[in-house]
Amino acid sequence: MIKTIGVIGAGTMGNGIAQVFAQAGYEVRLCDTFPAALGKAKSTIEKSLGKFVEKGKLSAADRQAALGRLSTCGELKALADVDYVVEAIAENVDVKAGVFKALDAITRPDVILASNTSSISITVLGAATNRPDKVLGMHFMNPVPLMTLVELIRGQATSDESMKVATELCTKLGKTPVEAADYPGFIANRILMPMINEAVYAVMEGVGTPEAIDTVMKLGMNHPMGPLTLADFIGLDVCLAILNVLHDGIGDPKYRPCPLLRRMVAAGHLGRKSGQGFYKY
Ligand SMILES: NC(=O)c1ccc[n+]([C@@H]2O[C@H](COP(=O)([O-])OP(=O)(O)OC[C@H]3O[C@@H](n4cnc5c(N)ncnc54)[C@H](O)[C@@H]3O)[C@@H](O)[C@H]2O)c1
Repeated sequence: MIKTIGVIGAGTMGNGIAQVFAQAGYEVRLCDTFPAALGKAKSTIEKSLGKFVEKGKLSAADRQAALGRLSTCGELKALADVDYVVEAIAENVDVKAGVFKALDAITRPDVILASNTSSISITVLGAATNRPDKVLGMHFMNPVPLMTLVELIRGQATSDESMKVATELCTKLGKTPVEAADYPGFIANRILMPMINEAVYAVMEGVGTPEAIDTVMKLGMNHPMGPLTLADFIGLDVCLAILNVLHDGIGDPKYRPCPLLRRMVAAGHLGRKSGQGFYKY
């Protein structure tokens, strides 16, 4: 029986994932090595739950109860007794594999270890553990409390039973799970990132301003948000990391990250989270 969820990484995604599990009645332990990230995550969650209360979608008592189910920690070893783990740290295969190896030693052998990775191979993360049948991808969408899709990724060795448990958890969170195979970028980013990358090329080549490109895609294609606004929202460093995985993993030059995207990331212009991307915030 899953009662306590460990969430690792309290950034953009980790705080949203922690929130939805706490709202659904699970005890949540949110872990980050960077203490300031934990403080920021707590205030983001408080604000987000407050908005649900304002809109009449959550009672004030349920908000308090959800916050009461949430605790934070700075070290992985505090996750020794959790029943399920979702990892949401930086999109870097070596760092993630190191965390999966450590989690394999810390958690009970029956515990499923899920990654929120946007593009990294679940099979590779599974191979860093002695329980590859219990390693899977649980790819939430940003912002987690509002977006209903969860892409569930089955690694080469992931068992049917683990997929079933993850599917049931998604349903308990009020999310819709969709299964994808373990190829670079899975379904969502295999399709989304080439579009974002092409939009960046269009800026670089002067085909249109960011405003013009976003307006064409919003009004012409009925997208709720233009690709450059979306890239700023996701984080330009995250977009670059995913494109690198697509390019390296599939080998087709069509996935080559645009030089302008590389330049913006090198300058620390990471989008909304840094105050500057294709737009100013
Ligand atoms: N940003 C998005 O829109 C989005 C959407 C879906 C999936 N993802 C994926 O989610 C993951 C997290 O992305 P994010 O945007 O939340 O990143 P982020 O940079 O906002 O947050 C990452 C957090 O992880 C912490 N961290 C790093 N190494 C750690 C470790 N070893 N132990 C504990 N904490 C550690 C950092 O301090 C930071 O707070 C990535 O794999 C990303 O690809 C991102």
